[in-house]
Amino acid sequence: MEGRADVLSVRELEIGYETGRGLVRAVRGVSFDLGDDESLAFIGESGSGKTTLGLSLVRLLPQNASIAKGEIAFRAASEEVLDLTTLDDEDLRRFRWEECAMVFQSALNALNPVMRIRDHFADTAKDHSETNGSLKGRALTERATECLEMVQLDPGRVLGSFPHELSGGMRQRVMIALGLLLNPRVLILDEPTTALDVLTQRAIIEVLRTLKVEHRFAMIFVSHDLSLAAELADRVATTYAGRIVELGEVEQIFYHPRHPYTVGLLDAVPTLAGGQQELSSIPGSPPDLIDLPTGCKFHPRCPYATDKCREEDPPLIEVAPAQTAACWHWEKVGSDWEARGGEIHERDANRA
Ligand SMILES: Nc1ncnc2c1ncn2[C@@H]1O[C@H](COP(=O)(O)OP(=O)(O)O)[C@@H](O)[C@H]1O
Ligand code: SF4
Ligand SMILES: [Mg+2]
Repeated sequence: MEGRADVLSVRELEIGYETGRGLVRAVRGVSFDLGDDESLAFIGESGSGKTTLGLSLVRLLPQNASIAKGEIAFRAASEEVLDLTTLDDEDLRRFRWEECAMVFQSALNALNPVMRIRDHFADTAKDHSETNGSLKGRALTERATECLEMVQLDPGRVLGSFPHELSGGMRQRVMIALGLLLNPRVLILDEPTTALDVLTQRAIIEVLRTLKVEHRFAMIFVSHDLSLAAELADRVATTYAGRIVELGEVEQIFYHPRHPYTVGLLDAVPTLAGGQQELSSIPGSPPDLIDLPTGCKFHPRCPYATDKCREEDPPLIEVAPAQTAACWHWEKVGSDWEARGGEIHERDANRA
């Protein structure tokens, strides 16, 4: 995108978890940039390192995790570029929420059951009182009201409620509203719709779309569900075994995928015409991140695998302008996909 200023630049990030069994290589050589009004989705099967990546961007990794290598550069509102891998605790505390907020995967249970929603806003503001000294009393109520309205909740009803008085979808919106309180530039959402029923998922997607289009937040979504990316993302990264295996604009990923894993994820998305019956998952299971396969990590499950794949791990290769894929045989994968395209539409048309 021309003229876009990047708010976040990640380079060659490696994150491991120390465990009794060995080092879990959860994030491997991840690089990407995020434009200041862009939304980027990381999509991959469970265990592909998505949550670990999200946590590293707000530096909230568990004790046994360490960033072995790489850079995370964040351009703050002041235009100062912060290196998140070396920020001290005080600066980190300020950075979280004020520059970058994350809505966690377990958000539905993250609210304190004995605190009214109003007090959750007050607590968050208080933690940041040195830099947001004015955010208390009336100003706080006004800002909380604004944030709740941004997620299409009725502040009059919600502020005085306890979490158990709200539905799952409403609590998820409260978590998003709390994330917005200190006006961060980047919002990270980990599986924002996963635990919700289909209708509530739709409502949350609408909320996020409004935040993106009207309020122009930069967002990072993390999900196992590729269809969420179709609704919300400008660009999509598919992740496998801790690394990005394909990255491109949303249309490129959906209409012209060049990596067999992306194709597998697309085949698992239920089509409108086919409904749930069309769901197929990729055969086999994700690799052990302590003892990774040789060569391309996807080779044990890949229908295109050759000897070269078993021996050499492919780098990300430019397959089209602004689209990269880590596959030795991307041209064949692409031509098969394009050849199949007509068939899929015909099949869907027959079912419709
Ligand atoms: N605290 C932890 N200690 C050890 N391993 C972990 C820990 N958290 C996650 N992992 C492992 O790291 C890998 C990536 O996990 P995660 O980032 O949660 O993936 P995703 O969000 O894509 O499901 C998995 O193999 C998971 O078991
Ligand atoms: S490099 Fe080989 S094994 Fe890996 S995704 Fe491409 S074809 Fe499959
Ligand atoms: Mg996760």
